[in-house]
Amino acid sequence: MSSHPREQRPVTLLKLSEKRALGEPIVMVTAYDHPSASIAEDAGVDVVLVGDSAANTVLGYRDTVPITMDEILMLARAVRRGLKTPLMVGDLPFGTYEASDEHAIAAAHRFVKEAGCEAVKLEGGGQMAQRARAIVEAGTPVMGHVGLTPQTATALGGYRAQGRTAERAHQVLEDALALQEAGCFSIVFEAIPNELTDLIMERMEIPVIGIGAGPSTDGQVLVWHDLLGINDAFKPKFVKRYAELRQTMVDAVLEYAEDVRTRAFPGPEHAYGVAPEEMERLREMLAKRTHA
Ligand code: KIV
Repeated sequence: MSSHPREQRPVTLLKLSEKRALGEPIVMVTAYDHPSASIAEDAGVDVVLVGDSAANTVLGYRDTVPITMDEILMLARAVRRGLKTPLMVGDLPFGTYEASDEHAIAAAHRFVKEAGCEAVKLEGGGQMAQRARAIVEAGTPVMGHVGLTPQTATALGGYRAQGRTAERAHQVLEDALALQEAGCFSIVFEAIPNELTDLIMERMEIPVIGIGAGPSTDGQVLVWHDLLGINDAFKPKFVKRYAELRQTMVDAVLEYAEDVRTRAFPGPEHAYGVAPEEMERLREMLAKRTHA
């Protein structure tokens, strides 16, 4: 399969609403570096999230909590350089937006000014809907995120599906409605039962992107390393792998190591040439130096 024939116009918030209205599914992926961004660009995805999942996938932290604003901004700038068309969203790290509206606005502005993001994402409802409202009013579009919110997974009882009791399902619904009411342009639903998604979808007027939330959302998102099988340590139920790149990469590096050890690499095709007369002149120069 070759690259997706690209409609070169950048994806806007309006475009996402139009897609929702037309029933055209929205394709979203995460990306954390320049090569991944340019692959997402060539594949014609609609939205690229510089997710705080970078904490686990590329920075080696155990969960998403430790990643800092400076760390994610460096990744976001690399993604920016690889993207022209998809809408680019920066994921506000834990601890950068919860304390006050001022903190939230300042963090959102850093994503826009220092990394060229078009929007930011934050997790949770309740007070976080107010943070979303403040960021939107200060000029930056916000994507919400409800259900399993990894930054507060401990409080939710770990990395598990949410909304499986009537009370918890009601809370997820309330959070989604509060974020919509706060002015979010879109919301991620993560790890909730399909039946609950269907029920909330009846009340949503903005594009909803699902991850482990069933087929009735307006689009889907997968984490880059999960989708491509680069990380094989952890595979949530909702992940579909479209490649097994980790094994492909291990096999390639093993083959390289074997070639180096047996001197099969480099071969003549990897070598630079020099004119024989230049080597002859070099030998003469060296000979003169030795006899001087
Ligand atoms: O950080 C992330 O990758 C996310 C997606 C799962 C939506 O928040």
